[in-house]
Amino acid sequence: MADTGKTAKLTLDDKTVELPVLSPTAGPDVIDIRKLYAQAGVFTYDPGYTSTASCASSITYIDGDKGELLHRGYPIDQLAEKSHFLEVCYLLLYGELPTAEELEDFESRVTHHTMIHEQMHNFFRGFRRDAHPMATMVGVVGAMSAFYHDSTDINDPWQREVASIRLIAKMPTIAAMAYKYSIGQPDIYPRNDLDYSSNFLRMCFAVPAEEYEVNPILSRAMDRILMLHADHEQNASTSTVRLASSSGANPFACIAAGIACLWGPAHGGANQACLEMLREIGTVDRIPEYIKRAKDKSDPFRLMGFGHRVYKNFDPRAKVMKQSADEVLELLGIENNETLKVAKELERIALEDEYFIEKKLYPNVDFYSGIILDAMGFPTSMFTPIFAVARTVGWVSQWKEMIADPEMKIGRPRQLYTGYTRRDYVDVENR
Ligand code: SDX
Repeated sequence: MADTGKTAKLTLDDKTVELPVLSPTAGPDVIDIRKLYAQAGVFTYDPGYTSTASCASSITYIDGDKGELLHRGYPIDQLAEKSHFLEVCYLLLYGELPTAEELEDFESRVTHHTMIHEQMHNFFRGFRRDAHPMATMVGVVGAMSAFYHDSTDINDPWQREVASIRLIAKMPTIAAMAYKYSIGQPDIYPRNDLDYSSNFLRMCFAVPAEEYEVNPILSRAMDRILMLHADHEQNASTSTVRLASSSGANPFACIAAGIACLWGPAHGGANQACLEMLREIGTVDRIPEYIKRAKDKSDPFRLMGFGHRVYKNFDPRAKVMKQSADEVLELLGIENNETLKVAKELERIALEDEYFIEKKLYPNVDFYSGIILDAMGFPTSMFTPIFAVARTVGWVSQWKEMIADPEMKIGRPRQLYTGYTRRDYVDVENR
């Protein structure tokens, strides 16, 4: 992050302050306002952080106008085609694509951390069977703080490394256990002879009563879904993890906070909401009614899976996901999937509609993912937990980067106060 030598002048009343302008390796310059309040006695105001860079990061870059997503410089479409999830995990965590030996060692370390402490199984039984799996995941991941004390000291690089591997390795196991518990089936333990995605599918769909063969088509599709959801710059849940971690809280508690934030329907919960919306629409002839509602300001309905804070062109992940949806349904022999037909027609109509064009609303990563997950046999309640499994590496990578950043300090935003100014207490008899 270079100081351009340029400054931005801000004049307020009779005072002018000059603020340094910093230049990134890609994307817009930033005005460094860290000294603004000290020099000018004013705050900036940016609810939702639409124009605010919260940190410096070298992990993921998004160009919303070009529809470009780079992980450590590598385009997501190339990674989706040529790489696999654990290799992308290595890239996000350590900054470079691994050699064959580095990859083998990393995969072995993850594989050998996939089991959770046996006593943690009791946590699941404390939940109602019909608890949303995201509720279970928030609770159980937070409880990891109570079991893995030897990797909670964030000042010890080795403990940070162990916590990172444990979180990436155990998240599929926890998500699968949450699913099994919700359907009253016994837990299926991970197997070290399976790759990450195959292991997850087996833990979700195998039963002790019979052998389970992983379908390679589904395993590849799952791996691609995990890759497409791995990291995404400073989105709401990643920002939650960064803010929670800035107080020095342990990594398990901070990732649990990220899971809680991801659950919201405006964020990671959109994949569940999107499939439920597509099912509610039901048939192509009912699409115009929902397009009308999405445009109606008095109607809170929004097209789930559409729109994005950053992408004002197509979401490159949605393009890959759409292609994967076609492939998976065809390979599974699922013809005439009405939901996929509704999704494609909805996309076509929306992209020709003035409202969506003017507001630059395109399908995002959540628009097609639910169709694939549904075809795999997952209930909609498992869509966001799968997003959380994938995004754990992004949260952990961003957390590691922040902890190691010498400029890191506790996050403590200010406010535009609109409440009462000072007034005296009134006794109840005088109110
Ligand atoms: C994810 O940040 C990330 O990177 C997130 C994510 C990641 O990988 O981490 O990419 C994952 O969260 C994807 C987004 C999933 N959410 C949804 O699909 C829910 C539906 N989308 C919207 O809720 C909305 O588009 C957001 C939340 C995604 C973005 O909201 P913004 O950036 O705050 O935009 P906005 O709400 O200000 O919308 C701008 C305008 C508004 O109209 P006006 O007030 O200007 O008249 O567009 C309209 C909105 O009403 N609009 C929509 C719409 N999304 C925005 N209108 C209808 N349907 C929609 N989906």
